[in-house]
Amino acid sequence: MTILKRIAILISGRGSNMEALLGAGLPAEFCAVISNNPAARGLATAAARGIPTVVVDHKAHASREAFDTALATAVDALQPDYVVLAGFMRILTTAFVGRYAGRMINIHPSLLPSFPGLHTHHQALEAGVRIHGCTVHFVTPQLDHGPVIIQAAVPVLPGDSENTLAARVLAEEHRIYPQALRWLCEDRVTIDTAGRVVIRGAGQASGVLRSPATDV
Ligand code: GRF
Repeated sequence: MTILKRIAILISGRGSNMEALLGAGLPAEFCAVISNNPAARGLATAAARGIPTVVVDHKAHASREAFDTALATAVDALQPDYVVLAGFMRILTTAFVGRYAGRMINIHPSLLPSFPGLHTHHQALEAGVRIHGCTVHFVTPQLDHGPVIIQAAVPVLPGDSENTLAARVLAEEHRIYPQALRWLCEDRVTIDTAGRVVIRGAGQASGVLRSPATDV
């Protein structure tokens, strides 16, 4: 019998990536959804699916260290195999990140290493890039810089606003995050000596994405 991986999801708000993960039929046991924000919309979504929810309110803690200690206590109580950040909007201390090294992943709405940090769609429009996207990566102490597991690219179209671009990227987030977690749950992901991700048996991407389309 396969032992299902235990997954803890951390959110701060809407929770649409969390919902994509919960609905993907993954070989996983979602042990809880934890939020730093008691008003996070995703908490109700998780509860409606019968997933236990936990709030560790960052405002109730005097320092980042104190919050991360409380968060680690809540996470450790669940004994998860993987900690999955899904729109979790707090910067984590090096101690917290180190505690879950190789076991914590994040989704970021840009093609890293371009546009780490906040307002990525604004950053992409300002930079005038033709292709934008999203990245699932392992979490390391440097913000939005860990080993990349999977990325998806979308075109930036004439007339795009932050909202239209964000929606196009989000649709891809909802595809690649469940895929990345599935690979992890199936024990197919390792990090090589150079610090790059290797995925056993992953399909070979074919073709290229060009944007704008070429005339010939
Ligand atoms: C997503 O775009 C995610 O990549 C970013 O924050 C957003 C969260 O959306 N980190 P949701 O809460 O998953 O709907």
